[in-house]
Amino acid sequence: MMDLSWLSSPFALLLITLVVIGVLKIVAVLHHTYLYWKNKGVPYLPINLSNSITDWKLLLGRISVVNYFQYLYNYFPDAKYVGLMDFGMPSVLVRDPELIKDIMVKDFESFPDHRSFVDASVEPLFSKNITSLRGDRWREMRNTLSPSFTASKMKFMFNLMSECSHNFVNYLVDHPEVCHSIETKGVFRRYATDVIATTAFGISVNSMKDQDNEFYIRGIEIIKGFSAGPLGMAKMILFQACPRLAKLLGLSLFPPSTTEFFKKIVGETIRAREEQGIVRPDMIHLLMQARDKEDVHKMTVDDIVSQAFIFFFAGFETSATLMCFAAHELAVNQDVQDRLREEVQQHLAEGNGEISYESISKISYMDMVISETLRKYPPSIITDRLCAKRYELPPSRPGCKNAIVEPNHVLLFPIYSLHHDPTYFPNPDKFDPERFNEENKDKILPYTYLPFGHGPRKCIGNR
Ligand code: HEM
Repeated sequence: MMDLSWLSSPFALLLITLVVIGVLKIVAVLHHTYLYWKNKGVPYLPINLSNSITDWKLLLGRISVVNYFQYLYNYFPDAKYVGLMDFGMPSVLVRDPELIKDIMVKDFESFPDHRSFVDASVEPLFSKNITSLRGDRWREMRNTLSPSFTASKMKFMFNLMSECSHNFVNYLVDHPEVCHSIETKGVFRRYATDVIATTAFGISVNSMKDQDNEFYIRGIEIIKGFSAGPLGMAKMILFQACPRLAKLLGLSLFPPSTTEFFKKIVGETIRAREEQGIVRPDMIHLLMQARDKEDVHKMTVDDIVSQAFIFFFAGFETSATLMCFAAHELAVNQDVQDRLREEVQQHLAEGNGEISYESISKISYMDMVISETLRKYPPSIITDRLCAKRYELPPSRPGCKNAIVEPNHVLLFPIYSLHHDPTYFPNPDKFDPERFNEENKDKILPYTYLPFGHGPRKCIGNR
């Protein structure tokens, strides 16, 4: 007979209790994860072999994030929304344009913020920027930064941008050998760097000529911080799911030297402007003015660096991606290219060889081409909102019940998938700028075209 008397010892009892608690906890978590949306009667992505394989393919970089969201979006083609589990946290993929409007605009008070994807303890600079700020702090910062995009400021910035365009074109004219075969993403990243350096940071660089300038090199390092692939994905998951562990492991989004670089140049710019009384109507100037106001939330140099940094981060890759895809479509659609060239030449002729700020809004075919590029290749494929107040969603499908979204649940808006839904954009893979001509653009169903998001939290740089 086996001697089981040890089971009655205090140590064994403690051990058994801990094991039972552990098992119950695991069962509770699995129950919550697997049955959360089922219990609410919401269409949800079941955990089965096929869906698990798709998840793993994403984690291993075998399918792109775009393909993954297409898979989710098309899983329940008739649902207004679909319940998901994001590492144990319930989230909702919103498919219905009316509901998108309610969440982004009408009931904004219930969904005023984005979720933060890097904890403040891991990347303090990133957590202070406008996209990560919440509530009143966000509102104050948005009010401070919005005047950067008034007509007069835009006009000033347009001149700075024109200078960058001249530098860009002159370089290519002077170096015909590089034009035979060009890596478009690379050159447009250089152009975008120059534009943001001058408009947001107040410094001039010519990244085509000065190929290894530090501003450009640091920009590439920022983008690498968000690189896809298994390692990048694992890092992002760790940042979101276990920020403390990420901090303990000494992980950061960007190399500390990059953060220091941005702090240094913004600090030096502020000092130089203060010492020499320079007034340049750009973003740094607005932030300096806001800093000098008597306010409850005193703005620090770190806050200023953080905003300049997010303008760089939000504007650099998105704009370069847009230009890159536009160039591709112009190359493969000769008719579109010819018509656009003709339009630009006509405006150049009218402006004695220059395109003015005023004439930009009249270059209508250009606008159609850019709008269609943003439809077919939206640089941000999804955006999100964080639920702040309990909110009741209508039934997802006929026969379903209303569902409650709780505070801290995330709502996802599948921008790419909406833009590629044949119900809203027939023949979605066709590049067709005519979708945005005067007659057709008003026929686009509201909230199905969202390259810059919508509502009070829409892209501040959309103009
Ligand atoms: C083609 C270029 C761009 C695209 C496609 C784009 C797209 C977006 C999208 C989808 C959002 C989220 C909006 C929402 O959730 O409703 C966003 C937010 C934002 N974008 Fe852009 N963006 C672009 C360029 C820029 C530029 C050039 C800047 C800076 C000058 C910028 C600064 C921002 C900021 C600061 C936010 C956060 C706004 C807030 O939370 O209040 N973006 N952008």
